[in-house]
Amino acid sequence: MRMTFDTVITNATLPDGRTGMGIGVQNGKIAEIAPGLTGKGAIDAGGRLVSAPFVDCHFHLDATLSLGLNGKYNESGTLAEGIALWAEMAPDFTFDDYKDRARRYFDIAISQGLMAVRTHVDVTDPNLVAAKALAEIKAEVADYIDLQLVAFPQMGFYCRDTMADTIRETLDLGFDVVGGAPHLERTAELGRSSITALCEIAAEQGVMVDMHCDENDDPNSRQIETLVYEAERLGLHDKVTASHLTSMHSMDNFYAARLITKIAASGINVAVNPAVNIHLQGRYDSYPKRRGMARVPELMEAGVTVGFAQDCVLDPWYPLGRCALGDVAFIAAHVLHMTNPAGLAQAYENVTTSAAEIMKLDHFGLKTGCSADLVLLDATSSWEALRLRPAPRIVMRRGKVICETAPAHPHLSLPGRPASFDPAGYFQG
Ligand code: FE2
Repeated sequence: MRMTFDTVITNATLPDGRTGMGIGVQNGKIAEIAPGLTGKGAIDAGGRLVSAPFVDCHFHLDATLSLGLNGKYNESGTLAEGIALWAEMAPDFTFDDYKDRARRYFDIAISQGLMAVRTHVDVTDPNLVAAKALAEIKAEVADYIDLQLVAFPQMGFYCRDTMADTIRETLDLGFDVVGGAPHLERTAELGRSSITALCEIAAEQGVMVDMHCDENDDPNSRQIETLVYEAERLGLHDKVTASHLTSMHSMDNFYAARLITKIAASGINVAVNPAVNIHLQGRYDSYPKRRGMARVPELMEAGVTVGFAQDCVLDPWYPLGRCALGDVAFIAAHVLHMTNPAGLAQAYENVTTSAAEIMKLDHFGLKTGCSADLVLLDATSSWEALRLRPAPRIVMRRGKVICETAPAHPHLSLPGRPASFDPAGYFQG
């Protein structure tokens, strides 16, 4: 007997290449995926790509859309100038400032098919103004965004001696993850001990860890070793994510090969930020200028789950970005040489399913039983989705269409040429 559905998407192409597929939705979940499904309220995908939504597993929501608000810009393009600008601006932001920028960010994000975000939130301020504002935003947007909050001592765990209590207090607000920035501690030794202290708090509180790690061009930066060690010692394993790892680009090849084996054995995940990493790193080089990208193909080859993330949009660190994870995968494919067909298909996974895996979003995915959270893109494959990077025609959350964007179809005034054309699949004829 055929199931009845609340909604059916017909004639969809899936990221794995299957075409002519139907996706039946019932009670907000994917009830069936099969060829030829029909039913009331059918949405004809017209052979276009339907996939799980985009997921940003590393972002800074507290700083987003703040660039230039104090009339200053990051002229050097360095991490250090970004931190100095942020330290100058942050004390002036009010509770409502944080909420207002976050709301505007999510309006844009949802229009780009971005439906889950893990954000680091600076908890340097003992009054936790940003943390309290974004805890409220998490509840406010829960119907359309899965927001994970990371307690992030941006100016260092040891910037004051009450930070451990602050982290616990932040977790009590509903934060999900413990973060840190060991490369910003005053000595390498303090960096190492901050990782231990922060991982111990996460283990005690039963939450995940997402540590900014080795975010520099120093080939001898070794914080990742401590993070791997603590993930194993405390039994945290895949509840731990190492973010950035830009120094891995500059490490000695023998050391890096051994390190990748250790990372894989520990079960921890890696989140890289291709646009921001190549923008901020290599700033102290003449030529050749290093790219500051972790060794992603080698990490994935060893079995490590890797997410590609945005990190920043219009903040003191990065003057570009538009909440489009397709852009992030596009840049990653270039800088990581993932431009063969398998590499491009993988890059799409890195901003959808792999990023969801890092965030432990078990209900995300294009599988029966998962939430009916889907995007319909004006492209005929995940490869073409990265090449054209269109805003989704339809964004569906729990089976309901929550955003639609009219497709960009150019109108020509040229003799002998069509008056209009659909860019999706146009090169194939
Ligand atoms: Fe970051």
